[in-house]
Amino acid sequence: MFSGKKVLLGVTGGIAAYKTTYLVRLLIKAGAEVRVVLSPAARDFVSPLSLATLSKNPVYWEYYDKDSENGLWHNHVELGLWADLMILAPLTANSMAKIAHGQSDNFLMAVYLSAKCPVFFAPAMDLDMYKHPATKANMESLQSFGHYLIPAESGELASGLEGKGRMAEPETIMAKIEAQLKENAPLNGKRILINAGPTYEPIDPVRFIGNRSSGKMGMALAEAAANYGASVHLVLGPSALDTQNPNIKVERVETTREMFEASRAAFEHADWAILSAAVSDYRPKETANQKIKKSGSSLSLDLVENPDILKHLGGMKTEEQVVVGFALETENAEANALKKLDTKNCDWIVLNQADDSARGFGHDTNEVLLIKRSGEKEKLELKPKKQLAYEILDRLLKHHSAK
Ligand code: C5P
Repeated sequence: MFSGKKVLLGVTGGIAAYKTTYLVRLLIKAGAEVRVVLSPAARDFVSPLSLATLSKNPVYWEYYDKDSENGLWHNHVELGLWADLMILAPLTANSMAKIAHGQSDNFLMAVYLSAKCPVFFAPAMDLDMYKHPATKANMESLQSFGHYLIPAESGELASGLEGKGRMAEPETIMAKIEAQLKENAPLNGKRILINAGPTYEPIDPVRFIGNRSSGKMGMALAEAAANYGASVHLVLGPSALDTQNPNIKVERVETTREMFEASRAAFEHADWAILSAAVSDYRPKETANQKIKKSGSSLSLDLVENPDILKHLGGMKTEEQVVVGFALETENAEANALKKLDTKNCDWIVLNQADDSARGFGHDTNEVLLIKRSGEKEKLELKPKKQLAYEILDRLLKHHSAK
């Protein structure tokens, strides 16, 4: 859930601030990119150097660098907008009151007011402060803004008193955020089959018929779907790519027939299938047992047609299942894509053209035309495949409700 997420951690001045070093470590280990902003008082409780080292990013607490000759300005708006997620931990009674009233008298508060992402807050204070009606009202205000409360825990407090007010442990903070993100994720509960990469059709033990597909588009779709909460079954042809995303089950295959069997089996349990693999249409009729030697004359390979995975799944699909095909064309692109949509019975075709240096096979960027069965079309301009993947999923989500 945290993989690739941009997390902004706002630390305010309470004794529990020392625990944020551990929280940063957990976030980094979970694959997040972390930036830390401190309230001025937080610096008395935790070292900016520790947080900068652990987060691998500079830590800020004021609007500009007083030590730098040019007084380098830190852009609170940019930082706020950068975040996919903001965590305020520990959040003191004082900073909570400021947030409840939109007060912006330090850099952290300005960053918070500029952020548009989901905000989680983990209060920490002494038990009577926690119980105070003013604190309670402020806590409710923050919740009414749509922020998620990670309640304080009971136990021994810095004052020596026992009661509720300790900041939740970093592991608990992580677990609560993860559970909430999962619940909010747009593809939560969806099972998605994606196939990707080329296929290799063996000629003999060392040679094959293949193509230039890298698997980048399919992998980007798998990562995006997983980050949107789906359980992804990725049937991956021979590609150098790999993923550690816990929501993606990777099944590696080599030939079209292996990809066909794996995709067919996974489709039985899938809600959506996105078939982005560059499947080889033909395979050698025979595979030689030994390496074929030079004979001094020409050599012909007898090829037979491979199963069409997309067409097969299109024929199998139920009313509830959604099947998306890809088309890579070098001529009459749109007409050919429309034909495919029809003959292969898919709900969508993502058309990309292999005609320049930035689109299609092997590149990190792509530009596509999305065509829906009803005839609706939308062009998604040239952009990184990783970003395009989210946009493709957003369009699918718009038309096929996820939950
Ligand atoms: O017919 P064409 O190969 O251009 O169609 C492309 C689409 O069909 C892609 O989604 C590709 O994954 C799929 N396909 C397939 N099985 C094949 C050939 C293509 O699933 N044998």
